[in-house]
Amino acid sequence: MSQPPTAGGRWWGRVSVHEQVRLARDTYRLRLACPELARMIVPGQFVMLRLAGCNDPLLGRPLALYDTWCVENKPVGLDIVYLAVGKLTRRMAQLEPGAPLEIWGPLGNGFPPAPPRPLLLAAGGIGQTPFLAVAREHLGLRRYGVGLRYPSAERNGASPGTVTLCYGTRTAELLAGVDDFEALGVNIRLSTDDGTAGYHGLVTDLVAYELASSRPSAVYCCGPEPMMAAVAKLASLAGVPCLVSLETPMACGIGVCFSCVARIRQPDGGWDYQRACVAGPVFDASQVVWDAT
Ligand SMILES: Cc1cc2nc3c(=O)[nH]c(=O)nc-3n(C[C@H](O)[C@H](O)[C@H](O)COP(=O)(O)OP(=O)(O)OC[C@H]3O[C@@H](n4cnc5c(N)ncnc54)[C@H](O)[C@@H]3O)c2cc1C
Ligand code: FES
Repeated sequence: MSQPPTAGGRWWGRVSVHEQVRLARDTYRLRLACPELARMIVPGQFVMLRLAGCNDPLLGRPLALYDTWCVENKPVGLDIVYLAVGKLTRRMAQLEPGAPLEIWGPLGNGFPPAPPRPLLLAAGGIGQTPFLAVAREHLGLRRYGVGLRYPSAERNGASPGTVTLCYGTRTAELLAGVDDFEALGVNIRLSTDDGTAGYHGLVTDLVAYELASSRPSAVYCCGPEPMMAAVAKLASLAGVPCLVSLETPMACGIGVCFSCVARIRQPDGGWDYQRACVAGPVFDASQVVWDAT
């Protein structure tokens, strides 16, 4: 049964699947009817999802907002794009319209609106999912978070800029949602490790090229940790601010269980653990202590 928003502006309840569409190999877009959440969520935030009335798996899983689903310009639901990799996502892939899911959100900080200048998005693997809404907002095509008690003045959708997406996967069959980005007018640079689509090589090569040629005002990045660490380094060398969205495993999503901690630099030069679900998942890349470093 649906619950009203909590004091923190979160919503918890049961929602039903409106539609499930296969986008690429093992990759699906799930459309959920949920107007309350759709009015509050902003790009880069996430929700936790569980199968309703089922304890296997017991814990919810974090999934990013792909985009809000609007009817007559009113947000009525959420689109989630996911790769079926494990227990929950493989079962989600079997869901038919009408199937119930338990959801809570919006969670995390999200990406802040970038200045109205070129924005570079760097995505690896399934890391493109937070960026459709980021791009739509940056291009001035939609306002997000309109139903928040205190909507952000920054999120006024009034300062459009250009957006370039560098998006790399292992192989062409895993590229998901490219049409959605194209429809917005995003400049798209693709790469695959095996050369089956786009540039034959790592997406970080495309990011290095774009940093040198288009001089973006900011880089937003999401993907496997070694890729994000490499993009952070490239952006730092180019003197361009970089934000990363960490994909640490999460059990509660609301700051209670500490399963999601990441090492974040502190003003005294040391580091401390921070909970990615509440302090993130978006962090300044220069503040993250990467495992490889
Ligand atoms: C903020 C945030 C946003 C995210 N957004 C998205 C998103 O938009 N789309 C998306 O697809 N993912 C996203 N993720 C990642 C997603 O939450 C995980 O992939 C999630 O754990 C999948 O749940 P699952 O139950 O299907 O897989 P799990 O069962 O939790 O498995 C997770 C991983 O472990 C591996 N694994 C599982 N079982 C085994 C086993 N027996 N042996 C070895 N390895 C195993 C799986 O291959 C998989 O890589 C996000 C994560 C975070 C933190
Ligand atoms: S997921 Fe529980 S504290 Fe972050």
